[in-house]
Amino acid sequence: MADVVINSFSKKFGSNIVIDRLNLQINNGEFITLLGPSGCGKTTLLRMIAGLESIDGGELFIGGKYYNNLPAQKRHLAMVFQSYALFPHMSVRNNILFGLKIKNVNKAKMQYKLTWVLNLLYLKGLEDRLPREISGGQRQRVALARALVLDPDVLLLDEPLSNLDAALRETAIEELKRIHHQVGKTIIYVTHNQVEALTMSERIALINKGKVEQYDRPKAMYDDPKTLFVAEFIGSPPMNFLEGEIQIQEGFGGVNTSIGFLKLDKDRAAKLEAMSGRKVIAGIRPQNIYFSEHVIRRRHTDTSLDLIVEFVENMGDRSLVIGRTRNSIVMRFMVTRDENITSDQKMPVFIDGRCIHLFDTMSRLNIFNNDGSI
Ligand SMILES: Nc1ncnc2c1ncn2[C@@H]1O[C@H](COP(=O)(O)OP(=O)(O)OP(=O)(O)O)[C@@H](O)[C@H]1O
Ligand SMILES: [Mg+2]
Repeated sequence: MADVVINSFSKKFGSNIVIDRLNLQINNGEFITLLGPSGCGKTTLLRMIAGLESIDGGELFIGGKYYNNLPAQKRHLAMVFQSYALFPHMSVRNNILFGLKIKNVNKAKMQYKLTWVLNLLYLKGLEDRLPREISGGQRQRVALARALVLDPDVLLLDEPLSNLDAALRETAIEELKRIHHQVGKTIIYVTHNQVEALTMSERIALINKGKVEQYDRPKAMYDDPKTLFVAEFIGSPPMNFLEGEIQIQEGFGGVNTSIGFLKLDKDRAAKLEAMSGRKVIAGIRPQNIYFSEHVIRRRHTDTSLDLIVEFVENMGDRSLVIGRTRNSIVMRFMVTRDENITSDQKMPVFIDGRCIHLFDTMSRLNIFNNDGSI
């Protein structure tokens, strides 16, 4: 069993608090990602788990065992570093086998593992080259190979795909998922790329300034962001945000904003009566604003809006339209790529009241979806 339990982790560099009473529980065999902006503490957290960085406060348990004081080499973990740290004077083969040689693994087993991992990560034929004689992407795969052959209980991966080109990256993501499926290891994967996190992991821990903002399944992160930070970070293109005040107008519960009164769906609107007058920030994904002409079914909690098109960004399978309201508020929304849209064109759109997220202006927490447990 290799479940990982982190209780109230803290880490300081000088007076700089980098990890701040952080809690995280990872089930045995689970694949999670640590996601967050540059400098939020992802690498530091991995290094604390690996035993490469001391734990200033809090506790670490792996498989029920207290790990705080266990030296790095005694932890059954393998880490792939952001900088991959290959030995420059050693061949690819020797880099991959280094950890096994230290453990005195017999030759036949080493050869078996080498062949397995070279095939798995498309490194065949490169065994005799030095790290400087292979590409950045290949180096990254050698670093991954070196970790995989160790058969660790927990695999710690610090942005292992950042140097791969888009096509290789997609293949590598599929490979990693397959490896995870096959070997069933607990994997902690660090990235600042939300698409990667959303596609590959079972759960995502979004880190902000050394704390976990939300720890959830990818769908829940996207559909029910618990804080404004999560709403800003997850989803592409980013949400539209509008300051507003909760009001009840003509029997509808909603939020009054600079683009008008936005109705909420019936269930949530019922809860708004008690909150009338509260200052909030409304978040609306571009995917939840619809071009009216093409949608026949409408709900009475949709809000209509006229936008003037400023410009259109082609995103391949869809287009992003940047429009302005009559009072010059910018709103972004998506249309299919077949739409023939030109600048200055007037577009009637509607906002689906079920998809408006509301955050308290002061606390920045989702007013509906926060049990205070994070
Ligand atoms: N050895 C160190 N001494 C002092 N400060 C450090 C040290 N290592 C990291 N930091 C600081 O701690 C903070 C977190 O760093 P960390 O490397 O964990 O971030 P990260 O989330 O991995 O960022 P990135 O996405 O850029 O890799 C940063 O402000 C960084 O400058
Ligand atoms: Mg890092």
